[in-house]
Amino acid sequence: MISFNKERKYIVTGASSGIGETAAILLNKLGATVIAIARNKERLGALKEKCKNPENMHIEVKSLTDDIEGLSSFVKDLKEKYGKFSGLAYCAGVTGLCPARTLTYEYSRNIFDINYFAPIMLTKGLVDKRNNIGKNVSLVYVSSIDAKVCSKGQSVYSGTKAALCASILSISKEYAVGGGIRMNCILPSAIDTPMTKKIIEDGYNLQGEEGAYPFGFGKPIDAANLIVYLLSDKSKTISGQNFILDSGGVM
Ligand SMILES: NC(=O)c1ccc[n+]([C@@H]2O[C@H](COP(=O)([O-])OP(=O)(O)OC[C@H]3O[C@@H](n4cnc5c(N)ncnc54)[C@H](OP(=O)(O)O)[C@@H]3O)[C@@H](O)[C@H]2O)c1
Repeated sequence: MISFNKERKYIVTGASSGIGETAAILLNKLGATVIAIARNKERLGALKEKCKNPENMHIEVKSLTDDIEGLSSFVKDLKEKYGKFSGLAYCAGVTGLCPARTLTYEYSRNIFDINYFAPIMLTKGLVDKRNNIGKNVSLVYVSSIDAKVCSKGQSVYSGTKAALCASILSISKEYAVGGGIRMNCILPSAIDTPMTKKIIEDGYNLQGEEGAYPFGFGKPIDAANLIVYLLSDKSKTISGQNFILDSGGVM
């Protein structure tokens, strides 16, 4: 069984909703200390109320896109407040449907900021050995099946997710030396979260695709279980990988 102790401290972004919220609750339940980051203070407060060990669930209300250059310093500030980190679950992100003819640079940059540049700059902070515990450190990033499938209207979103996988693979090679820091991406297909509800409202035909998913849409806990496994020592030889969770059908 996977378990942690409270000295194992993990940053979880996107902790106010969906996959990140579920991962934060699960990590906390299994004994880890969680630093839960998102912008929505009320939802983060609710997260603290519903978790098993609220004394080990720390809330940080923060936009990850207001000062991307400063995110590595932000990690240092968090380290000074909470101590050295054992890892990261990067679950923040946005999606969006945008046919190529309507693309703008600003639209594209906004999606790249939260899905690509923010995780890369947080990683820069976490690989700094002054900020991590040095052994058994694991960083997990939620990419998407769209990094591989590249559906119509998802050019920018797919680009952010493919770029994230490529850069994390590269950085994982820098930090694998001496059994240092592990880094992996997970690539879910549809997961039943507020994000999925929004793109259905925006007209994306996920219902039509559902029949193509033999095991149905994933639940946030399905992604959270894999995230927690990859953060834990049970996966201690696994690094630089992309894990597809496609409900048995998309790929
Ligand atoms: N749901 C799916 O079907 C699916 C499939 C594949 C991949 N994914 C990926 O999984 C990740 C999580 O998705 P989800 O479905 O859990 O989405 P969600 O329920 O919409 O949650 C997104 C999270 O990201 C946070 N966030 C967004 N912009 C932020 C910003 N600028 N600064 C700080 N936090 C920000 C939100 O928090 P605040 O609004 O409180 O800041 C929220 O906690 C995303 O990267 C998504 O692309 C999802």
